[in-house]
Amino acid sequence: MSPLSHFLLLIAAPLALGRALLDLHLPLFPEHPYPEKPYPEPPYPEPTPPPPELTCDKYGYLIQYAQLIRIDIDTGGYETVGTAIGDNSAVNALGYNPLDNLLYGYQGSTNQVIRIAADGSSSIAATLQNAAGYILGDFDAQGYYWVATQNAATWIKIDLRPGSPAYGQAVETGTTPSPGRSVADWVYVPIAGPYLWSVGANPIGGASLIRWGFATHQWEIIANYPGIDNGFGALYGINNGTIFASNNANGRIWAFSLLDNTQPYIASQGPPSGSNDGARCVANVEI
Ligand SMILES: *[C@@H]1O[C@H](CO)[C@@H](O)[C@H](O)[C@H]1NC(C)=O
Repeated sequence: MSPLSHFLLLIAAPLALGRALLDLHLPLFPEHPYPEKPYPEPPYPEPTPPPPELTCDKYGYLIQYAQLIRIDIDTGGYETVGTAIGDNSAVNALGYNPLDNLLYGYQGSTNQVIRIAADGSSSIAATLQNAAGYILGDFDAQGYYWVATQNAATWIKIDLRPGSPAYGQAVETGTTPSPGRSVADWVYVPIAGPYLWSVGANPIGGASLIRWGFATHQWEIIANYPGIDNGFGALYGINNGTIFASNNANGRIWAFSLLDNTQPYIASQGPPSGSNDGARCVANVEI
């Protein structure tokens, strides 16, 4: 080939190749991958479906370590609703928030208040300032969660009103002198006044009905019942003036009347437990 031919080929070959590619309509650049509308139209989809609420049913909810159990207080029958709640360590101070129908409890391993749905799924509601063994828990009617260490030695009022600007924050805290009884849960019963009620273990034997005032932050002993079980770690309130108390050691569920001092009685036989706490939708007056 002459030098001129070389030169012509150098020019002609790429032109020919380019022409061939154009004729083939090769997709040198693929169609741009963007959809016509880069952002979805409102309403935007929820990132995750909201957790299923409870339904203010008649059951007692019992947390034993990281296992959530639903108890039929009338028969003592029970079934597991969720396991490995939160980070799968012990949850205590269980309370039922009447404003969102979710359960709340304190997980000591993370020092967090977690929100527990009907299927046992959970999410973080608050991180507390000081870690302590919070084991007493319940809600008032306004959506404040009252948690405390044993005997309410240290207590905190936490705002868990849905939509509140202070949601998840401690709005009040304090200490309480011992009632001389061992107290492991408390329950608010609207009809029975501005108190958190409990059944404390009397060191000389038997149990005592006691109450802690929202305004006074003090305990009062209402009645002593010698000779009955004590060591009640889970309480369930009913807004007719009765609380049911589950005994840790033997699982018996006792009924205590708040409005008169009638003798407590064994209502049913539930599950025993070493670490537990109870909650219930107090507005439901059936069992
Ligand atoms: C409250 O209701 C429960 C469930 O029906 C019942 O067992 C209890 O006796 C009632 N208490 C009062 C004080 O009426």
